[in-house]
Amino acid sequence: MINIAVFVSGRGSNLKAIFEQIKLGNLPANISAVVSNKKGCGAIHFAVDKNIPTFIIVNSKDEKFASYRKLENFLSGLKIDLIVLAGFLNKIPKEFIELYRNRIINIHPALLPKYGGKGMYGSNVHKAVFENKENISGATVHFVDEIYDNGKIIKQENVDISNVKSPEEIAEKVLKIEHKILPEVIKEFATGIIKFNN
Ligand code: GRF
Repeated sequence: MINIAVFVSGRGSNLKAIFEQIKLGNLPANISAVVSNKKGCGAIHFAVDKNIPTFIIVNSKDEKFASYRKLENFLSGLKIDLIVLAGFLNKIPKEFIELYRNRIINIHPALLPKYGGKGMYGSNVHKAVFENKENISGATVHFVDEIYDNGKIIKQENVDISNVKSPEEIAEKVLKIEHKILPEVIKEFATGIIKFNN
């Protein structure tokens, strides 16, 4: 059993997918906290509804650093083993990344290293994939370091998009892959298949 903190900024479908796998008994993990920079987002509403402790990051220029320090204290009390970024749209300070080196993972809605980097998130990714007439897309789970979408790739799974008619169709196909591989990777941490390397 591992304690995870899930960082979110959107509707929370990946958070819900993790929650569901835990509820089904397929994932020996405990969602100890949900963290966001958007207090009104769907993922936070879901966490509150499920009585999961939440923490809201204050993203303003002069308070962001202090807010992440408070977050460090909040998480240290919960003995977090793994941080999971699931649609989290906020640049994490390098000091925080250092503190959790090799214990932060992210789900990206494309086959990195293609279609990654600053600004490549959500629909921006699927529009670029569509405009480039790619035949496959997919999702990637990777370690998080100081550079956007740059950390070591842990797992990828692709999906055929040769017949899609819009970026929205790609998003729908890719999201299904995200909801599959993110819980799979968390399970691999929880069952020791992937070792934590401090
Ligand atoms: C997903 O497409 C994910 O790949 C990207 O942001 C979106 C989050 O969606 N990082 P949700 O909030 O988990 O529904």
